[in-house]
Amino acid sequence: AGLDLDEIYRFAIQLGKDAGEMLLSAANARISGTAYAVSTEKESAVDLVTQTDEDVEAFIKQRILSTYPNHKFIGEESYSKGTSKQYLIDHAPTWCVDPLDGTVNYIHLVPFYCVSIGFVVNHEPVIGVVNAPFLHQLFSACKGKGAWLNETQQLPLLRNPIPPLPQGAPKGCVFSCEWGKDRRDASDGNLQRKVESFVNMATELGGRGDKGGMVHGVRSLGSATLDLAYCAMGSFDIWWEGGCWEWDVCAGICLLNEAGGLVTTANPPDDFDTAEIKPANLGGRLYLAIRAAGDNDGETGRQA
Ligand code: IPD
Repeated sequence: AGLDLDEIYRFAIQLGKDAGEMLLSAANARISGTAYAVSTEKESAVDLVTQTDEDVEAFIKQRILSTYPNHKFIGEESYSKGTSKQYLIDHAPTWCVDPLDGTVNYIHLVPFYCVSIGFVVNHEPVIGVVNAPFLHQLFSACKGKGAWLNETQQLPLLRNPIPPLPQGAPKGCVFSCEWGKDRRDASDGNLQRKVESFVNMATELGGRGDKGGMVHGVRSLGSATLDLAYCAMGSFDIWWEGGCWEWDVCAGICLLNEAGGLVTTANPPDDFDTAEIKPANLGGRLYLAIRAAGDNDGETGRQA
């Protein structure tokens, strides 16, 4: 109650721009040899944090809490320091931030990394700002106001009309799935399901007739946030990830919702046919995202 979403949205966009500048100058300092991305391991050998993650989160947190002292803040790096309970999302207005999503990309100079700023009210992501400064892509969305690229181009980019998902999707789609950070469960669990998803999508496996494999392409960008942003843009048709945290998806869920896409907690491929796909539950850890489906033959039904 009493929230001025317009004002908070403007604040979030400026914050995303400023944090993006920090990411860019940290990357440029590395490229010019005046600084190095020293990383340390968190939960596993592939769960990394750099000084840049810490510095950008400290900057964002300070800016938010000095402007909105009554709001809650959840950040990836604050959380990893072990204060879990107080950071659970509840009905309070909460900022949910990943200062650097795609840390491994940042370390290896793969350009797909970004700052991801989400704002949640009553469990619903109502603002999302994602800035990928190396790509010159600023994504922003606010409930009821659409999703935008660089504040000027409405998402999805192809809108007149929005192209339908291919008949027989996921066949013919571009599918994106991340490897995640938990690489232990090679024979069972999330990693196994991810590997199967990759294989089934990329081949004729899957055993589902014309709903079987043979997507046009399988991608793994290394940033859950950018996967969702690219679904909102209409570039990716489907994204699936298991093992995400709230800060990986909060801003991206708002972008995709506002672009007319769908985010669910379902598991592919079994649920591609399911009519009653439930809305994503933040913190559900399993996410399936589908871009705006457009209209096939005059029917409005989802094709995925
Ligand atoms: C990770 C990336 C990665 C995804 C992981 C995330 P981080 O975030 O989004 O693509 O597979 O689940 O935790 O550590 O780079 O901020």
